[in-house]
Amino acid sequence: MEMFLRNFFLFLSKNRTLNRSAKRWGLRFGANRFVAGMTIPDAIQTVRDLNQKGLVCTLDHLGEFVFSEQEANEAADYCIKTVEAIHASGVQSNLSVKLTQLGLDISRDLCVANMRRILDTAKKCGNMFVRIDMEDYAHNGVTMEILHELLNDYDNVGTVIQAYLFKAADDIESVKQHRVNLRLVKGAYKESAEVAFPNKADVDDNYKKIIKQHLLNGNYAAVATHDDNIIEYVKELEKQYQIPRTQFEFQMLYGIRSQSQIDLAKEGYKVRVYVPYGDDWYGYFMRRLAERPANVAFILKGFFTR
Ligand code: FDA
Repeated sequence: MEMFLRNFFLFLSKNRTLNRSAKRWGLRFGANRFVAGMTIPDAIQTVRDLNQKGLVCTLDHLGEFVFSEQEANEAADYCIKTVEAIHASGVQSNLSVKLTQLGLDISRDLCVANMRRILDTAKKCGNMFVRIDMEDYAHNGVTMEILHELLNDYDNVGTVIQAYLFKAADDIESVKQHRVNLRLVKGAYKESAEVAFPNKADVDDNYKKIIKQHLLNGNYAAVATHDDNIIEYVKELEKQYQIPRTQFEFQMLYGIRSQSQIDLAKEGYKVRVYVPYGDDWYGYFMRRLAERPANVAFILKGFFTR
């Protein structure tokens, strides 16, 4: 049943007609549990509230199915406005972006030009850090290539390494000398057994290995997980190798394990909440439901008792 629901919601997440229609609906069906709002002011207000709870943030302007140069440029413009709004408001947040949203599937040059525009603005706004989210395996190689290119000119850019990929450790080594800030995750997409560990236990093992590798390389790790076992493992590494707390942070998604986020911050750890916002909320919301069918029960309960 769990696998059926997972595939069902992943299938729904890719439906373009529903995706387009959802933009006109407003945040519905409980999506506001996972999405901070439709506009930049909504997002800034959410960041402000989270900052007051001792949490820092990264903002993600949701966007899927970008097919034209104009749409890619508009998405980049929106990211730039977000960077400026973060800076002007003084809230504690940085930015996460997806290269497909910036035109990667249309033209690599267009995407890199958009990325450079965002990084230039971020540099002017207090050298704000911009993270490139990692998408599916089909985009992984080119994303790493673009990161290498950008690292020649910018020190405020990083990306994400997915532990389920066999190549994860090699990718970490390939950028080691740049002392790049990497977000380490288990990996969210459905990948083939030719490139990724099919079993969860192997993914968890590899996740621990790459966290240790990156931290012992002396580089900054953003450990993005809701898994208590992994969080405990990082705390053990911290003690065993005297890793300073300035060398890592925990990250979690907005609306997921919110109390744990606050508890970790109270223990003195840096905790960053990934805060998505925007009218293109539908695909993101469906993927969160796919991740954990228990969320469906939660959403349905709220839906029928309203
Ligand atoms: P796991 O899935 O094993 O879950 C551990 C526990 O966490 C569960 O038992 C449950 O209690 C809780 N939990 C997990 N998901 C939940 C949910 N939806 N609702 C409620 N509870 C839940 N992936 C990627 O491929 N590219 C990327 O760029 C990113 N970026 C990213 C940023 C941030 C800040 C986070 C937290 C995650 C990502 N991911 C990602 C997603 C990541 O790869 C992974 O799919 C999810 O984090 C789920 O894996 P966990 O490590 O949380 O463990």
